[in-house]
Amino acid sequence: MQAYVFIAVSADGFIARKNGDLDWLPGSDGSGPEDGEDYGYKEFFATIDTLVMGRHSFEKVLTFGEWPYKDKKVVVLSSKKDATPQHLKEYVQWLNCSPPELVKKLSSQGDSHIYVDGGKTIQGFLYHVLINKIILTRVPVLIGDGIPLFGPLAGDIKLKHIKTQDYPSGFVQTHYKPV
Ligand SMILES: NC(=O)c1ccc[n+]([C@@H]2O[C@H](COP(=O)([O-])OP(=O)(O)OC[C@H]3O[C@@H](n4cnc5c(N)ncnc54)[C@H](OP(=O)(O)O)[C@@H]3O)[C@@H](O)[C@H]2O)c1
Repeated sequence: MQAYVFIAVSADGFIARKNGDLDWLPGSDGSGPEDGEDYGYKEFFATIDTLVMGRHSFEKVLTFGEWPYKDKKVVVLSSKKDATPQHLKEYVQWLNCSPPELVKKLSSQGDSHIYVDGGKTIQGFLYHVLINKIILTRVPVLIGDGIPLFGPLAGDIKLKHIKTQDYPSGFVQTHYKPV
């Protein structure tokens, strides 16, 4: 199983404001990128079998209106009671399990590539050293406070730098491979 992260982060390391707002991230309201540049997202998304996200990210996606992942299996992780809206039950699997348990379960279902999304959720996978690639798109803005991408680890995780690309928008995208 290959587990990947593809995420946008402010220059000071946040993925959202404390209240979950993404207003600092151009195109995050579903309007898409202003300059037509998608930073490789579509190409990346096509390579994955299942999108795994935390409950907070799921709740944010619900505010976007139409469900954007109709052609992809989606797992929502939560310790709470399943709160998937009825009309999304066919697209979403609501699960309460640890990252190692989830990887085992999805592997047994034939998945080979998963996309892990949401700060706490990514941190859980990193804690268990289960992330194989991190694609970090740094947005040129400081927001001062917010929901951090990274958190405590059981031990250091060394990252091999694969490549970095900068864009006219000022976004800088770096690919890392944990080693
Ligand atoms: N900048 C970007 O590109 C980007 C990308 C994705 C998300 N975001 C933003 O990030 C924010 C959400 O990040 P976040 O760090 O607050 O949270 P998150 O990872 O989306 O969700 C955290 C929640 O997921 C559940 N969870 C995670 N791992 C679990 C496990 N192994 N077992 C059971 N439950 C598990 C827990 O839910 P329970 O409390 O229900 O147990 C936990 O409270 C949102 O505002 C979203 O819009 C930004």
